[in-house]
Amino acid sequence: MTQRTKVAVLISGRGSNMEALVRAAQDPACPFEVVLVLSNKPEAGGLVTAAEAGIEALAVDQRPFGKDREAHERAIDAALRARGVEVVALAGYMRILTPFLVEAWAGRMLNIHPSLLPKYPGLDTHGRALAAGEVEAGCTVHLVTAGVDEGPVLGQARVPILPGDTEHMLSDRVLEQEHQLYAATLAEFVRGL
Ligand code: GAR
Repeated sequence: MTQRTKVAVLISGRGSNMEALVRAAQDPACPFEVVLVLSNKPEAGGLVTAAEAGIEALAVDQRPFGKDREAHERAIDAALRARGVEVVALAGYMRILTPFLVEAWAGRMLNIHPSLLPKYPGLDTHGRALAAGEVEAGCTVHLVTAGVDEGPVLGQARVPILPGDTEHMLSDRVLEQEHQLYAATLAEFVRGL
């Protein structure tokens, strides 16, 4: 079998997008394999899920590094390099990156965001979309560049906003699309490397 692209998934919490990527990679025809799941928070539930799926799950706790975010990222980068990681997928990694990690992985780091970027970057995307009276929402997979939730768009999926939607209902509807979009977009991206 030809070599599959080694992917690390960075998470901070639940890790449902990470699970979707792990599931996609269980198909032998998938062009990537998930070799590492890494969290900045040791208590992230996704670490347990990853370990149960037989994937190396590693916490690089941000706390001992205090305000030195670059030192924390250097530790992350070392862990990625040590495992021969080729592509990094941010999946609910809720810490703003410094230029160090962005530049170290330029063109090789993807992120998923639960809005139709460039609309609603940052936090509380669903609440803001509802408050603005939008009739459509969605999610975006993009390459990571210096700005938060910026960078070239690789794929988007759209969902309707329905009358009576709560944030919870909308985020569930978008999340279902996120899981499909991320796996498909990452596969297409690594095929093009
Ligand atoms: C997902 O909705 C993801 O798009 C979002 O956090 C959630 C993580 O869920 N990411 C961002 O908002 C990044 N700006 P998950 O841990 O179940 O994948």
